[in-house]
Amino acid sequence: MDARGTWDALASAETEEVVGDPARGREELDSLFARLGADPHGGACVELGCGPGRMTGALAERFDRVLALDVSPAMLERARRAVTAENVEFAAVSAGSLHGVPDGIADVAICYLVLQHLPSRAAVGSTLGELARVLVPGGQAFVQLPVLDPGARPRLWRLARSLAVPLLARLSPSPRSARAFRGFRLTAAELDAALSAARLRLIARDEGPDAPYRYSRDVFLRLERL
Ligand SMILES: C[S@@+](CC[C@H](N)C(=O)[O-])C[C@H]1O[C@@H](n2cnc3c(N)ncnc32)[C@H](O)[C@@H]1O
Repeated sequence: MDARGTWDALASAETEEVVGDPARGREELDSLFARLGADPHGGACVELGCGPGRMTGALAERFDRVLALDVSPAMLERARRAVTAENVEFAAVSAGSLHGVPDGIADVAICYLVLQHLPSRAAVGSTLGELARVLVPGGQAFVQLPVLDPGARPRLWRLARSLAVPLLARLSPSPRSARAFRGFRLTAAELDAALSAARLRLIARDEGPDAPYRYSRDVFLRLERL
């Protein structure tokens, strides 16, 4: 099942189970900015992976314009129903490409609880590259993703998982078994290389105590497009 089919199927599940607590979207957004020493307002914002719009309404209050993107038309339909602010535009995108979104249109980009679902290192890298492309030079991206802990055991676990996940995806029809849901964890060095290839400079970084994934930590990044 591809990313669109996976997330369309998940769009009918309870938001809290597959996305996050719907009541905590604003708080999580404010906390993302605060932990990275930012309080952006005004200009244009691209939200990549808006889901059912948990954060989109709060973004619409901060920015003059919000372009909320998602791979799943069913998620976008939920977001359209939840967020009626006139300065928000919703659009469907392909996995790994923001084809149709012009270069340099955003002052700020947000990508939260999305990269953890991408199925490969290459998919995370190309998505970071696309986020950079749609930012104006000097524009900033605020990104969350879980990063693999250092050491041999996490690397072995990742290897075993990268063999098991495609197998499980073939055996189980559940969208929760799909590669586009289970995702891939980058090491800190792989993340650094992907950021540098995307020409995104690190301004601030923070870590959560852990992530709801084995052998990983939640990492929050404030990045500037060079
Ligand atoms: C866990 S939800 C998070 C939604 C929202 N960011 C939030 O925090 O409430 C992940 C969302 O990312 C979307 N998504 C997954 N892969 C994507 C991709 N490659 N490009 C764009 N959106 C994607 C899914 O359709 C889903 O709506």
